[in-house]
Amino acid sequence: PVNLKGRNFITLKDFTPSEIRYMLDLSMDLKNKKRAGIKGNLLEGKNIVLLFEKTSTRTRCAFEVAGFDEGANVTFLTNSQMGKKESIEDTAKVLGRFYDGIEFRGFKQETVDCLAEHAGVSVWNGLTDLYHPTQILADFLTVKEHVDKSFNKIKFVYVGDARNNMGNSLMIGAAKMGMEFLALAPKELWPSKELVDEMNEVAKETGAVIKLSENVDDVKGADVIYTDVWVSMGEEDQFEQRIKLLTPYQVNMDMIRKTENDDVIFLHCLPSFHDENTVVGKEIYEKFGLKSMEVTDEVFRSKYSKVFDEAENRMHTIKAVMVSTIGNL
Ligand code: CP
Ligand code: NVA
Repeated sequence: PVNLKGRNFITLKDFTPSEIRYMLDLSMDLKNKKRAGIKGNLLEGKNIVLLFEKTSTRTRCAFEVAGFDEGANVTFLTNSQMGKKESIEDTAKVLGRFYDGIEFRGFKQETVDCLAEHAGVSVWNGLTDLYHPTQILADFLTVKEHVDKSFNKIKFVYVGDARNNMGNSLMIGAAKMGMEFLALAPKELWPSKELVDEMNEVAKETGAVIKLSENVDDVKGADVIYTDVWVSMGEEDQFEQRIKLLTPYQVNMDMIRKTENDDVIFLHCLPSFHDENTVVGKEIYEKFGLKSMEVTDEVFRSKYSKVFDEAENRMHTIKAVMVSTIGNL
């Protein structure tokens, strides 16, 4: 039996396939419970703190609502002394005295690693430059709900910036769950050789297949097409170069047709620049004369797109992460 009590949640590298399956099953149970209107108490008496260096809609709200649903008390903190007037280590030790669990979203992976090392309570990674592991649980739960195949039969295609937190984390998750994973991207944006080698080792045990390609025709047979923004938080000076590199990798109806699979689903962690109805989107669209970036509005709003089910699943899966690591189970 799986027991994740007291564990951190920093990257899926640290979890076995059965532990990941356990968190997905627990997410589904918690989702059914919520839908049935049953109020939980699995986090009653627990205090949790959410540290954010970067902006967020889904992750922050998912942690808060998941906490409230199960009876936790939640503090949201963006303007702390951490890293400015006080070291990460000292902050971790202080927060560990107050709280039962700490979520961190920010820039450096080393920050969340340092919190985990010194807090003495569970630390959850809500996104760093390198990884976004809670997102992967939501993505895979959505795949389970919408693709009628077991994970080891799924061809998962990640298109776009395959070097960013999403590209890295999806490759790790796919390797763990035995999927065929294809990173479809220009060579400059392929995941690092170290991570690919490491995941190829995992794949030997799980039966996963990791592929890298620059050829969009390789999308053929995809069960899932996933993309993310071309410019992640903190790299806003990269738009020009990324638009140049990634325009051929836009997810549009042509790409959907190239899969030759009418049951293919489209996923995106969000937020997305699929239209110009955002402050940043408008500015970039005008500056570069674009009509869309990583995904067209047409695909985003099509029957293939499951992005809002996926967004909802952030809450159920984050609840499962907190319940399994610090909950009254
Ligand atoms: N997908 C995701 O992490 O969204 P937020 O940036 O809104 O939290
Ligand atoms: N790669 C994106 C993911 C946002 C959820 C970013 O880091 O901005």
